Amino acid sequence: MKQPLLFEADPMFTNRQTKAVTFRGKLDLPIHRWYRLTPSFSPTLADDIADHFSLSASDLVLDPFSGVGTVPLCMKYRGIPACSVEINPYLHFVGTVKTRTYRAVENIEQYFSDFMKVFRGKLNTIPFEDRPALYLAEQARFIPRINYPERWWSKGNLAQLVCLRKLLIERVEKTEAHDLLRMGALAILIPVSNAKHNHVSLTYAEKPLPTVDVAGVFEQQLQNMIADLRAVLALPRSEVTIYSGNSKKLSQVLPENGRKVSSVITSPPYPNRFSYARETRPHLFFFDFIGSARAVGQLETDAIGGTWGKATSVLSTGVKPKNELIAKLLKPYIKDIHHGGNLMAHYVTKYFNDLYDHAGEVEKVCEPRCRLAYVIGNSKFYDNPLPSDEILAGIFNHFGFSLDRIDKMRKRQSKSGLHESVVFMKRG
Ligand SMILES: C[S@@+](CC[C@H](N)C(=O)[O-])C[C@H]1O[C@@H](n2cnc3c(N)ncnc32)[C@H](O)[C@@H]1O
Repeated sequence: MKQPLLFEADPMFTNRQTKAVTFRGKLDLPIHRWYRLTPSFSPTLADDIADHFSLSASDLVLDPFSGVGTVPLCMKYRGIPACSVEINPYLHFVGTVKTRTYRAVENIEQYFSDFMKVFRGKLNTIPFEDRPALYLAEQARFIPRINYPERWWSKGNLAQLVCLRKLLIERVEKTEAHDLLRMGALAILIPVSNAKHNHVSLTYAEKPLPTVDVAGVFEQQLQNMIADLRAVLALPRSEVTIYSGNSKKLSQVLPENGRKVSSVITSPPYPNRFSYARETRPHLFFFDFIGSARAVGQLETDAIGGTWGKATSVLSTGVKPKNELIAKLLKPYIKDIHHGGNLMAHYVTKYFNDLYDHAGEVEKVCEPRCRLAYVIGNSKFYDNPLPSDEILAGIFNHFGFSLDRIDKMRKRQSKSGLHESVVFMKRG
């Protein structure tokens, strides 16, 4: 049955089903399903935008906010060259491992199977069911340096993960197959934890997870990964690169004298205070992608949209619009946000100051006829709506990108007035 129209009529990007917009669209897709990042978008959306732009092998697509690499992964298996940029070192790893080209799948399968023998052999020597604390005390230096690890994992599961972590860290060879093993381990950290995906952000379950067969969960994950690598073997593929860096400095992150970008397909963090650094703490610490809580705070401060830890102290010192354009674009909304206290008004100001820096960098790296598709959600602060899609279009307009149209794709959550849009713009 046809859905009733929620927004203005448009052939493609309005009234979309949840699976065609959100992470739900990737849960059963090869490779895309390796790690669940709840605020990531659906591969269907990336594919539909690529169709809409009629992209081909002669294009170069950029996603400046790579997340788990949805856009470059989709482009790769359509044979369209692509690159992306990600500030979070763990997510950069996920995007890199997912978008590599793997050919010798049998060798990888053998490597996994040899490792599983070693892992199970080691687990047999560890009393993780009845005396996990003993093993944890002995191996204290291999416990991930996350604050309060036992809140994340019950002792029996933590002991098995520490055994897995130790084996993987101590392996001398650092091959692509080894990276896949690490990806497999990172993928099971939440399924064997006391955290749950009940909300957009992870929350702790009321009852900790009892000791489970971590090796069994890990082996299943590895088998899924092998099946996925086989599933894409016959597809066309292009080379894609995931760069580690800050999209507020795009022109320094992408190769100097590199090819200019012909399309941007992306989704920046929404101004909704979701913290990517906080959400990925277990993973950031598991293989030391980050060294300390302080470094996580710095990552959050450097990222767009961060509010957690140190980033909050930065906001409390006060943030001013960086120029008249930002002041003018925010003026109709900022007074109502101030009404509820200054912190949120500073948050919103910093967010759009950052987007301004980003938009200026997009101008430097793209071709004269470049097309842009920015997927973004609006927000509400103290019940006052903030039209992020329109403000973003206003910022890009300043840098010479004209607005084609804003398609409101879907209503978000049950809160009225929240929606996700795709903002289509083109240079010139
Ligand atoms: C909405 S998510 C993108 C999700 C992506 N479309 C996907 O499907 O996985 C936004 C991403 O931008 C990253 N990010 C935030 N600030 C950044 C910055 N200044 N430079 C590069 N990446 C940044 C976050 O770490 C997060 O992964």
